[in-house]
Amino acid sequence: MWWRDAVIYQVYPRSFQDTDGDGVGDLRGIERRLDHVAALGADAVWLSPIYPSPLADFGYDVAEFRDVDPVFGTLEHFDALLTAAHERGLRLLMDLVPCHTSIEHPWFRERPDFYVWADGGPPNNWVATFGGPAWSLDPVSGRWYLHSFYPEQPDLDWRNPEVVAAMQEVVRFWVDRGVDGFRLDALDRLVKDAELRDDPPARAPFALPLLEEFGRLEHVHSSNAPEIGRALEALREAAGDTLLVGEVYLPAAEVAPYLEHLDAAFAFELFHSPWDAERLQAALSGAVELDEPAWVLSNHDFPRLATRFGPENVRAAATLLLTLPGMAFVYQGEEIGLEDGPGADPPYDRAGRDGARHPMQWDAGPAGGFSDGQAWLPVVDPAERNVAAQSTDPDSLLALYRALISLRPRLGRGFALREAAGGVLAYERGGHLVEVNTTRESRPSAARGEVVLATHGAPRSGAPLEPHEARVSIG
Ligand code: GLC
Repeated sequence: MWWRDAVIYQVYPRSFQDTDGDGVGDLRGIERRLDHVAALGADAVWLSPIYPSPLADFGYDVAEFRDVDPVFGTLEHFDALLTAAHERGLRLLMDLVPCHTSIEHPWFRERPDFYVWADGGPPNNWVATFGGPAWSLDPVSGRWYLHSFYPEQPDLDWRNPEVVAAMQEVVRFWVDRGVDGFRLDALDRLVKDAELRDDPPARAPFALPLLEEFGRLEHVHSSNAPEIGRALEALREAAGDTLLVGEVYLPAAEVAPYLEHLDAAFAFELFHSPWDAERLQAALSGAVELDEPAWVLSNHDFPRLATRFGPENVRAAATLLLTLPGMAFVYQGEEIGLEDGPGADPPYDRAGRDGARHPMQWDAGPAGGFSDGQAWLPVVDPAERNVAAQSTDPDSLLALYRALISLRPRLGRGFALREAAGGVLAYERGGHLVEVNTTRESRPSAARGEVVLATHGAPRSGAPLEPHEARVSIG
């Protein structure tokens, strides 16, 4: 299986590379920058949505599943990108959004039976992920429709076999074009309670961060229905043996039914763990049991690593992400240590996620090499951080990412947590010992063998770990 232990690079197309001067990235830009992804050593690219979209949720509100938004290019540009990726040995994953469409998708008017409706007002107490009721009035029909996310994203009714068939056609469309798999969006929302029963109040905080209003309920009926397997089986049937990675926003202990049909699911407890050895260890111990965890520490929805953990910890965080067993997802820009930007004022994203979506910084110029026009979101600090400078600097974060990715195949299989000094996370991979010092102080190292990679200089074996250091040694 090509994806075992693969490194998958997430491209956020609006912010990767603009080639036509409109300030928004495009498919030709991604093609132009593929050599960067290949030089990193990644195995695949995941493209966040490129479909036509009115941008209520920046592409996750899809108005047509089988086309490319003109701002990104055309289907011909897509085919050229796919060919160019394959020529470099890179696979390509699409972002499939099966749970909802844009309210501007023709289905919403032409096929109202594809959606979930109620008459006379909201039929239950369900809350939308980004706040407010999960039901809105459609002024045209006078009926209420369900939306798990923004009101501009009506939920599809996966209990309707015609919806299932329509989405299978979408999957086949992209598989026939040659894509290598899909990241499946918001899967825990795909199937809900058939009787639309109320969600009870939450008895304990949810294991993952939620908007406060949303977290007040326990989402036993508005999400994660027991019939999920049938929906996933249909997606699998259409996808054949291409890779299916699920965004299932649940603790690892609840992900097993999804993995009966998917190849992997993101391990969100590790993603949301604070930078603290004990907490990281607790998050890891559940997720490593999954068959198969997809490790990820940042994406377009949450603040970047440098912003969450502090720039002093990004080298150790990269070491953690890239030495765990299973596939690892790297969000564009993390490899040069991008920090969150200020976002737009007023914000583009009403849920406050602009900050992690500022453009890539390719060079030190004022536009960072991203665009010749006015970038939709400005670059943050290209003079301090950019691909060109880091490419030639052996001590750069980019050089560390490249070294970690080339080390992966040599790490060997197997994983076991190891006792370590306070504040140090330690585990064995094959014959290697990985030590991650999450503190700002020096800590003893338990390694006795040769050091094969270290984030802070070239220590001798057994030397204490520097503050914020991570180190990989032979057993
Ligand atoms: C996923 C996406 C997020 C989007 C949501 C609704 O969580 O990552 O960006 O807002 O689904 O589609």
